[in-house]
Amino acid sequence: MDSPINQELSANSDTIVQPGEIVAAGTPASVPLPAKPPLPATAKTPPAPVGAVVESAPDPPVNKMRRRIVWASVTGFLVTCFLMFLRFFLPRSILEPSSVFRVGYPSDYALGVDTKWQQQYRIWVDKTSDRIFVIYARCTHLGCTPDWKPSENKFKCPCHGSGYDSEGINFEGPAPRPMDRAHVELDAEGQILVDIGRLYRWPKGEKDEFNDPGAYIPL
Ligand code: FES
Repeated sequence: MDSPINQELSANSDTIVQPGEIVAAGTPASVPLPAKPPLPATAKTPPAPVGAVVESAPDPPVNKMRRRIVWASVTGFLVTCFLMFLRFFLPRSILEPSSVFRVGYPSDYALGVDTKWQQQYRIWVDKTSDRIFVIYARCTHLGCTPDWKPSENKFKCPCHGSGYDSEGINFEGPAPRPMDRAHVELDAEGQILVDIGRLYRWPKGEKDEFNDPGAYIPL
């Protein structure tokens, strides 16, 4: 036995109700429901046909630049490591200045302090009536290079004011002891051979080494 809705549908043979179509209660069957909107085109991409060549879009320029920077950094790092590796096998001693050198003959010097080797070797040649010796130009306080003051006949350290007499003996300021003296000897030609790698000291409160053989050349 048909329901009232089916009876009404049967009475109006022009309207066809599709299977699954919903008819609202109280709505005449002759009024169709609004159609569903179509899906956007991007919702479903049709598959590429078999055998078709798919071309990818080129990389944006920013990605290429980033790659170049990374490769340049890696290459620079490897080159630096390689150079350091090679440097390891090179001798270093030939790059350092020798601590032994000649400064001429004793007769080349007048009595007193000679400063002509200060810039090159950091020494002063000091000549007295009975000997010649070499003072290493380094303040015994904190290592500055004092200045020779001929008018005051003394060395004066510019850093903290230590004063030394003409033979490098401290008498003012914070310097704890006299300046060191370098090893000297005469070579086969009679020139003064200086070795600043061998120093003679006068430690505070101890006996000095300034009269040891090699600390001076007797005249
Ligand atoms: S370094 Fe010379 S007085 Fe301090």
